[in-house]
Amino acid sequence: MNLFVPIILIGILLIVTILLALADYLLGGQGEKTLTVNDKTKITVQGEDTLLNTLSVNNIFIPSACGGKATCGYCKCKVVKGAGGIKPTEEPFLSEEEKEDGVRLSCQVKVKENMEILIPEELLSAKEYKATVTKITSLTYDIKLVSFKLVEPEEMFFRPGQYAQLRVPGVEVIRAYSIASNPKMTNTLEFIIRLVPKGQATTFVHMALEVGDTITITGPYGDFYLNEESDEDIICIAGGSGKAPIRAILYYLKDKGMNRKVKYFFGAKTKKDLYYTEELLELAKEYPNFQYIPALSEPSPEDNWEGEVGLITDVVDRHSENLEDSEAYLCGSPGMIDACIRILTKKNIHMDNVHYDKF
Ligand SMILES: Cc1cc2nc3c(=O)[nH]c(=O)nc-3n(C[C@H](O)[C@H](O)[C@H](O)COP(=O)(O)OP(=O)(O)OC[C@H]3O[C@@H](n4cnc5c(N)ncnc54)[C@H](O)[C@@H]3O)c2cc1C
Ligand code: FES
Repeated sequence: MNLFVPIILIGILLIVTILLALADYLLGGQGEKTLTVNDKTKITVQGEDTLLNTLSVNNIFIPSACGGKATCGYCKCKVVKGAGGIKPTEEPFLSEEEKEDGVRLSCQVKVKENMEILIPEELLSAKEYKATVTKITSLTYDIKLVSFKLVEPEEMFFRPGQYAQLRVPGVEVIRAYSIASNPKMTNTLEFIIRLVPKGQATTFVHMALEVGDTITITGPYGDFYLNEESDEDIICIAGGSGKAPIRAILYYLKDKGMNRKVKYFFGAKTKKDLYYTEELLELAKEYPNFQYIPALSEPSPEDNWEGEVGLITDVVDRHSENLEDSEAYLCGSPGMIDACIRILTKKNIHMDNVHYDKF
């Protein structure tokens, strides 16, 4: 073979690549584009990053519990114009109705041309924070309370029940955690984090995170929060680390003098899975409106447990009458929440009054 043939082929390939890149640039791929948010904010975009990253660089923080890997489905937003076709990675997260409505996963959509999007107004108040670990407390063998002081900005205003996202150092993954601290303490954030075997973020938090470490937090996020306007009775049901958002809700209610009736059910397997029991029983002594009902599904003989026994659904069933005028706040595993909703519905609760976060 002629020695010049490969050189000529490489040359042609190089010229084609340069021409394609140039065409992409001229047709808008790398050129300047305008991203319009909620019909009012106009962002000039260079390059061709994902919508999620483009917004984040411009201080608009969309929830993204998987950090852009198309596994959480949290980063949805409505694209009115300029998104292109739906990718296979988006399909599992979008209902037919959402597809027709232009809803997309912002981590999968690239800003290649002028784009118009709509996001909930409250997301515009989510910010990126630097926070320093001030305390790590073991609550059980697999649950820790991690306390942070906000450094920059110094205050986060959140509604009791909402969550924030932690960029976990070392593993550099982003995970969602419900805020477990008092909403009034705007310079402090606390999280109740359960170790997931082989879990990237939780293994790091449990094994390597230390007091003095600084991490990045974004938030607040989420539509699971206390209806502060209502005066209806409240049923709270939690399992595992699901106590986190309920803790923030209870702080809020206590600050208001616990003027609503609250029944709080906590489901655990054995006694070693219980935590904050003394504190909650003390709260119940202080406020007659508040009742705490921990229940064990598999108490061991050495537990000497004299409290409620059984699945949390059965315990809720036994302890609830007509819930027509009640609100429910549920937090725990998807299976537990679905089962609890069935019981609450049987007790006449209105679905509009049932709020939950599954994790
Ligand atoms: C809105 C929201 C609020 C949340 N709040 C809290 C909270 O307050 N406290 C808390 O501890 N967690 C909370 N989570 C869960 C948290 O975001 C992480 O998913 C969890 O900590 C696991 O992260 P990881 O990186 O350690 O595990 P990964 O590395 O993501 O997962 C490792 C493996 O474990 C599996 N896995 C992941 N999560 C669980 C789980 N919960 N149980 C069993 N298997 C699992 C995965 O499928 C995977 O196979 C919340 C999640 C959401 C969406
Ligand atoms: S960030 Fe998780 S799906 Fe987009």
